[in-house]
Amino acid sequence: MKILVIGGGGREHAVVRKLLESPKAEKVYCAPGNGGIGCDAENVDLSPADLAGVSKWAKDHQIDLVCVTPDDPLAAGMVDVLEKAGIPAFGPSGKAAQIEASKVFSKGLMKKYHIPTADYRVFDDPQKVFGFIKEQNRFPVVIKADGLALGKGVLICQNLEEARDGIKSIMEDKIFGASGNRVVVEEFLTGPEVSVLAFTDGKTLKPMVSSKDHKRALDNDQGKNTGGMGTISPNPYYTDEIADVCMKTIFLPTLEAMNEEGRPFKGCLYFGLMLTPDGPKVIEYNSRFGDPETQVVLPRLKTDLVDIFEATINGTLDQMEIEWKDGAAACVVMASGGYPGSYEKGLEIHGLDSKGQVEGATVYHAGTKYQGGKFYTNGGRVLGITCTGSTLEEALKKAYAAVDKISWKGVQFRHDIGKLRN
Ligand code: AMP
Ligand code: GLY
Repeated sequence: MKILVIGGGGREHAVVRKLLESPKAEKVYCAPGNGGIGCDAENVDLSPADLAGVSKWAKDHQIDLVCVTPDDPLAAGMVDVLEKAGIPAFGPSGKAAQIEASKVFSKGLMKKYHIPTADYRVFDDPQKVFGFIKEQNRFPVVIKADGLALGKGVLICQNLEEARDGIKSIMEDKIFGASGNRVVVEEFLTGPEVSVLAFTDGKTLKPMVSSKDHKRALDNDQGKNTGGMGTISPNPYYTDEIADVCMKTIFLPTLEAMNEEGRPFKGCLYFGLMLTPDGPKVIEYNSRFGDPETQVVLPRLKTDLVDIFEATINGTLDQMEIEWKDGAAACVVMASGGYPGSYEKGLEIHGLDSKGQVEGATVYHAGTKYQGGKFYTNGGRVLGITCTGSTLEEALKKAYAAVDKISWKGVQFRHDIGKLRN
């Protein structure tokens, strides 16, 4: 089969590598890909925003299967466009992707179908939000932009001053554009966070092994929120008992709710959960594989990913046994100095071999460029260094040993991935 993966980050590199393990995958393309992905698959110079262009290219190149990985093209309806052109595509329809693309939609869904989540109110007027927060006078308070915001649309405000600044930047200065036309104000929840990705064909839902993301930029959960600075799998807080509760109270009710609403979800549904003293609650849904969760989850997958994608598309997931490796995996993200703020690009990366790898680890490239036999930084998150082991300690030790071999000017990474404190 000829397979096309849409996207160009560490998550896409992990998907590409897993697809290449399948005997069915004759050729894998990635659009636009990146420096490291190009060592494994063929990069294609197409923008994920160009739905018609991608569809035409896939048709012209007789692509048998497309995996649409990032949120923007999913929300824009790339899967619908591909399906119309007769090209099988893994991912939800544009209508189903709203579960991530609109917080107002997802919160409304959870309320209507009694899926546990933080209490909330929706506002489209900055004065009214401020008035509500002032009157409520309960801090911290969580303010979320309604739409997609590169994972940065959530503000946790400790006092009225911060809330005022936050409302101004989202709703008036529009730092996230139209995504900030409406905001959700949410109750602040506490407890360990868990990410659970699940394959679903709209009828059957098969959770993958659990993981834990580390979202803050600096050690000890300090600094700004990022797309994710490292992950471990499994998540030590996610016991079998909690998994059962989540299946009954969150996963299956969400699947049914989407069907009820006429938005059947097919693809990878991501549950961002918080294990609160009142039980597991949904913090967010994503309509796609998580990044960098995928970089610890897929390396543990034993079953052929092409088979899973096909079963998801064909609606035959109930007939599949999906198997996982025991043990653990850890991923340490190496980022550009300054990320998630401004940072320099084009810095030479030292320590990688000619394939962009180091011995003893898998290096997933997130933001790299390959030129003249060398790799250069080309984004905020640059590399994700993943190792597996029979224990989490072993996986982490190997991953950090590999991190030590790689360097560039100003590189930053967290030293405490996998150290648990909440
Ligand atoms: P999100 O982009 O929705 O995943 O939110 C980013 C991060 O903000 C989450 O991983 C949580 O750590 C935090 N967060 C979001 N919503 C809440 C909430 N209601 N209570 C506490 N923390 C939250
Ligand atoms: N790691 C969080 C996300 O993919 O949204």
